Amino acid sequence: MVYQANSARYESMEYRRCGRSGLKLPAISLGLWHNFGDATLLDNSRQLLRRAFDLGITHLDLANNYGPPPGSAEENFGRILREDFLPYRDELVISSKAGYTMWDGPYGDWGSRKYLISSLDQSLKRMGLEYVDIFYHHRPDPETPLEETMRALDTVVRQGKALYVGISNYPAELAAKAIDILNDLGTPCLIHQPRYSMFERWVEGGLLEILQDKGVGSIAFSPLAGGQLTDRYLDGIPADSRAASGSKFLNADQLTSEKLEKVRKLNAIAQRRGQKLSQMALAWVLRGDKVTSVLIGASKTSQIDDAVGMLANRHFTAEELAEIEAILV
Ligand SMILES: NC(=O)c1ccc[n+]([C@@H]2O[C@H](COP(=O)([O-])OP(=O)(O)OC[C@H]3O[C@@H](n4cnc5c(N)ncnc54)[C@H](OP(=O)(O)O)[C@@H]3O)[C@@H](O)[C@H]2O)c1
Repeated sequence: MVYQANSARYESMEYRRCGRSGLKLPAISLGLWHNFGDATLLDNSRQLLRRAFDLGITHLDLANNYGPPPGSAEENFGRILREDFLPYRDELVISSKAGYTMWDGPYGDWGSRKYLISSLDQSLKRMGLEYVDIFYHHRPDPETPLEETMRALDTVVRQGKALYVGISNYPAELAAKAIDILNDLGTPCLIHQPRYSMFERWVEGGLLEILQDKGVGSIAFSPLAGGQLTDRYLDGIPADSRAASGSKFLNADQLTSEKLEKVRKLNAIAQRRGQKLSQMALAWVLRGDKVTSVLIGASKTSQIDDAVGMLANRHFTAEELAEIEAILV
């Protein structure tokens, strides 16, 4: 059936300015790291994208290596874009990245100009796009001069292949340097994409302040710690879950009894607040004004509904925050 987007799609979402830029991002963005590769039924990926857009999630986050196999998430997304979303292209912010291993040899990894520019060309072909809205350097490269990597980001903007650029996984000090270089080049850094959740709080050690001072937005990836900060694992490991999928990023060994005990206590607070733990975990990342958007993953459309439902209850009392803090230490 031809997709017709929900006409009320902008009513359920909040849009937040990304740093000191002209671009607003939805408070919730959808990542295509899992559930968009060739191992996933295309129809499920399609339903996830339709539901997200119908609820006002206008920002979709990809990378060259998402799959498996690497590249297949961009290809499958390209197909769904062609079939469903072309009339809505200008309502979407589409991101891609390069920085992790993508092809054999010395030019398919890390942060050289050679790798970044050819990788973005490949990503555009796979997705059938003329440009991406945001292009990121995916992780710092300890060997390539930072100036070369930032100059490559500046180049793709000047070539019209990306509208904005960002960095991901950069520690605070290096991020500050990268942002300064981009400013000098005349292509401001739009956004930083770090991992941030109740279980992973390194960004609180200075990065978020630096980004705010420098007018750069932030988008927190894996805000549910891959599903650990939900009710998914409270009664064991469901067969259709990420932890059961053989993922090297989330497995049974990580779901220790100590961690599950914390999850249970957090879940009790969420229940008292009248929301699901997944919703409280997202609201917690968005508390204050330092994070522009939370970047979730989803395997089911109901998980997208849950995420958007969070927006109705984002306020925390000081007592609740203190109680959560005591559980997390
Ligand atoms: N820049 C980087 O280096 C980097 C690294 C990692 C990720 N990312 C980006 O961040 C995005 C999100 O990462 P993520 O998938 O790890 O995020 P996440 O939101 O922490 O985890 C998503 C997973 O949590 C589970 N889940 C979600 N909602 C739920 C709910 N309401 N109830 C129960 N379980 C729920 C689902 O797992 P099940 O599959 O078990 O249902 C879902 O796939 C990625 O797609 C990617 O775009 C970026």
